[in-house]
Amino acid sequence: MAACMNWLVLSVMVAIAGRVLSMPRGQVPDVPMAEFLTDYLNRQQRLPLSGPMEVPDWPSSDVVLGQVSGVDVTPLNSDVTPSYAVVVFHRGDKPWTEGTFDEHNVMPESERHNITQDTIVVIHPDTGDVMESFGADMFYVPHGVTVDKDWNLWLTDVGTHQVMRIPKKETVPDLILGEKFVPGNDDTHFCKPTDVAVANNGDFFVSDGYCNSRVVKFSKEGKVIGHFGKDTAGEDAAPDSPYMLNVPHSLALVEHLDLLCVADRENQRVLCYNAGLKEPEKFGEFNRTLVPGREVGMPYGIAYNPKEDVMYVAALLSQQPVWSQGFSYSPARAFTYDMEGSYLGGWGYILPNEAEQGPSIPHDIAASPTGLDVYMADVLQQAVHKFTQAPADRKYYG
Ligand SMILES: *[C@@H]1O[C@H](CO)[C@@H](O)[C@H](O)[C@H]1NC(C)=O
Ligand SMILES: *[C@@H]1O[C@H](CO)[C@@H](O)[C@H](O)[C@H]1NC(C)=O
Repeated sequence: MAACMNWLVLSVMVAIAGRVLSMPRGQVPDVPMAEFLTDYLNRQQRLPLSGPMEVPDWPSSDVVLGQVSGVDVTPLNSDVTPSYAVVVFHRGDKPWTEGTFDEHNVMPESERHNITQDTIVVIHPDTGDVMESFGADMFYVPHGVTVDKDWNLWLTDVGTHQVMRIPKKETVPDLILGEKFVPGNDDTHFCKPTDVAVANNGDFFVSDGYCNSRVVKFSKEGKVIGHFGKDTAGEDAAPDSPYMLNVPHSLALVEHLDLLCVADRENQRVLCYNAGLKEPEKFGEFNRTLVPGREVGMPYGIAYNPKEDVMYVAALLSQQPVWSQGFSYSPARAFTYDMEGSYLGGWGYILPNEAEQGPSIPHDIAASPTGLDVYMADVLQQAVHKFTQAPADRKYYG
């Protein structure tokens, strides 16, 4: 009886959530409502659908971006306004397409043109204006961006299979890891590395990546400390072993728990491992499942919000709103979990105007140092979105 009630309430709430964002539409493929709702609930599992709200008209209209693969925030001096800035990493006029790599994960010579636009754009969190931009003629297929506590930028280029560090206030790298254009799986090679996480002591982690199943830990000097992944899983590891990573796509450190969390994209789960910052010998030990397999779709980006002790997960449930009976039902694109793995809400719906612009992939996510704002990069929509929990800024749609 209770279960039945629950189903009814959920169905009605989902229907309402969908209709709030609905738009009449003509010739669209229709799915039966019951089938849609069942699927929606199976994948999204639990309500409530609630969380930070999107800030409209941000960034300003003169911010022109290509495929936006990465977003992070950099703290600024706390006695200035703004107290932080948003850093976006994008692909300019060079989208990642079918021809970008050959079957050996190598960029063919004919594709090796670096991007001539500034690929790194720093945006004011309030006005949405460009504060600064650089990174032209350096990158081939931009992917992850991470700002560490010393304001160094860490960038991954899946085209060159390299990881770069650009020091604070500089525009050229002072550290480059990986052999340019040469994929591999050892201490000096990556294969399409996706993201970097940097600990306060300077140790850093690289998720590697699209074609390796591992996470590599480095000392602050850039020496390999260890790694975990398929290589360390053991001969008889089950396919769902926590070490059988399939496209580790994003990293988030939770230092007070000494955990490194990994968005294991193709396995549709988020897992956390011992980061070995306090007990180095425990590095790589599996610790907990934050998002169980297939709960919210493919997690592309994860970000820890230390102010609220929650993890944000940007995930792809479906590339497009689902159309049914003339209405679109937009899935949430972001989800909040506590560190025990409890689901707290889904949010960041695809808005009608975005739906008009075509498919959406939430590719990266970042939480502001204030704990109030969240930024999400959308690789297909070539956009970055701002969400906020500040009550005064809240905007409700519908
Ligand atoms: C970027 O492309 C230019 C023009 O082809 C080339 O001169 C330069 O060396 C390239 N930079 C990198 C970092 O590959
Ligand atoms: C997981 O991490 C927590 C917090 O650091 C720790 O208390 C716990 O012992 C760890 N569990 C495992 C299985 O490693």
